[in-house]
Amino acid sequence: MIKIAPSILSADFANLSSDVIAVEDAGADMLHIDVMDGHFVPNITLGAPVIKSLRKVTDLVFDVHLMIDNPEQYIKDFVLAGAQIITVHAEASKHLHRLLQIIRNEGVKAGIALNPATPVSIIEHLLDDLDMILIMSVNPGFGGQKFIPAMYDKISAVKEYLNKKSKYIPIQADGGIGLDNIRKVHNSGAEIIVAGSAIFNSKNIKETIKLMKKADEGKNENSNNL
Ligand code: DX5
Ligand code: ZN
Repeated sequence: MIKIAPSILSADFANLSSDVIAVEDAGADMLHIDVMDGHFVPNITLGAPVIKSLRKVTDLVFDVHLMIDNPEQYIKDFVLAGAQIITVHAEASKHLHRLLQIIRNEGVKAGIALNPATPVSIIEHLLDDLDMILIMSVNPGFGGQKFIPAMYDKISAVKEYLNKKSKYIPIQADGGIGLDNIRKVHNSGAEIIVAGSAIFNSKNIKETIKLMKKADEGKNENSNNL
């Protein structure tokens, strides 16, 4: 099973609602919302008020990727705005385990994101507290960057580790993924594929998402209800 999560970072912010409706109509499985604060990453995007407004125009699952410092402080705001999955960066919190519990206690799913240089071992003692693992395949901060090839092995390493522990936690890959490499990313073990520029800069969003979803043809895997 492959799930496509279009990242609105590459959408037209002046026409956000129509772009969101376009990916929903095209069969997207969730909406990836990149929140950046200009501290954790060198870019500023959007916050809870924008998410709250978007909540009124779509039924898509809101997959909120927080690239912010002090995420603890803002979890409630994002939940109230309509987030259903909240992913925090391992590098952004001193008390990761507590942070994941705060997210789950709010009744939403908790994801952890690892920057390209962050070792996989950081998830070792968090497996019971995670609903998703996001492997960054670019350095966070901007859309339209090139996929870092070493991340294929990193995704495989996470998948193998989870298999060894008999844990099923979906792996999300984010950054630099398009029609040219989605199959390889998926075959490495990522089930949820984030794509921003490849979808929103394409001439035909519907066709692009349809082709992306075909990347798992011939595969038969487990899936959960994310
Ligand atoms: C990068 C963001 C990504 C990004 C993906 O910091 O987390 O979600 O928008 O964009 P593309 O698919 O263009 O690399
Ligand atoms: Zn993202």
